[in-house]
Amino acid sequence: MTRSFEKVGVVGLGTMGAGIAEVFARAGLRVIGVEADPDALGRGRDNLENSTGRALAKGRLSEAERAEILGRITLTTSREDLADADLVIEAIPEVMDFKRALFTDLDRICKPSAVLATNTSSLSVTEIAATTGRPGRVVGMHFFNPAPVMRLVEVVHTVVTEDGLAEEIAALARRLGKTPVSVGDRAGFVVNRLLLTYLNHAAVLLENGLATRDGIDAAMKLGVGVPMGPFALLDLIGLDTSYEVMCVLFQETRDRRHAPAPILRELVTAGLLGRKTGAGFYDGQAVATPPAS
Ligand code: 3HC
Repeated sequence: MTRSFEKVGVVGLGTMGAGIAEVFARAGLRVIGVEADPDALGRGRDNLENSTGRALAKGRLSEAERAEILGRITLTTSREDLADADLVIEAIPEVMDFKRALFTDLDRICKPSAVLATNTSSLSVTEIAATTGRPGRVVGMHFFNPAPVMRLVEVVHTVVTEDGLAEEIAALARRLGKTPVSVGDRAGFVVNRLLLTYLNHAAVLLENGLATRDGIDAAMKLGVGVPMGPFALLDLIGLDTSYEVMCVLFQETRDRRHAPAPILRELVTAGLLGRKTGAGFYDGQAVATPPAS
């Protein structure tokens, strides 16, 4: 059976969730965006308005197109509104207990044929799937930040994913204008396993006093041609997310290359999470100057 995905739920409208909702709405799908409470919903609405407002200001969208995109997104604090969604994507914080509780609830609420997807950066999709009565219809659909811009979707299948479902999700990703890559269920999948290891290593080098933050960022941008240096990118991804991914990678592999840099933990503990809190490696007094070597 080939499913038709026309009505999509997105749970969690932080940076990633709002970006994902926008991507679906831009492709003409109807979206139900769910947040836990009115305040969080208000922030989700702001995220959507800012992102589409930016496109408007740059002349990439007309007022009418922007209104059409936002008009396809219904915002709610009630998960029950997801009852007839064809696909629900979870984009809540990277805490397994939260995800398990949410998927148990989604399994109760959503119609039996609905596919449940997680945008997890590193947690086990299999473990999330196992909390539901439909583990064969639970997959990973991993978008990248900023979701409206980055062209990849990692489609994560597990050992119990229904035959053909990963291909259907890949086709959906193409409909969104993204390129799908099929990956197995291992911590960090492909991108975060490689990328976060590199970013974490940059933090270790900073701590070792090898070079300054600005020196390392400039070296990678100018020497390798990446659009952002590692510390700018850590701030964009969020230091909390980055730290959590490293913890999961280290737990799963016990490989010391994946041991989180202490400075990451320190900044997260101090509430310096990067762009989302206004300070991280940048604008954070703690690391603006290199440590003495
Ligand atoms: N929302 C919507 N659109 C955005 C945006 C946002 N948050 N940020 C940038 N854009 C758009 C801009 O409007 C612009 O569009 P246009 O070309 O149509 O005018 C385009 O992206 C380029 O943006 P800018 O000109 O403002 O800035 P840059 O050229 O410096 O690009 C960037 C910004 C796209 C963020 C670029 O620096 C980049 O690609 N950085 C690397 C990002 C990256 O590696 N992301 C992956 C992180 S890993 C991850 O997400 C996985 C997770 O699990 C941890």
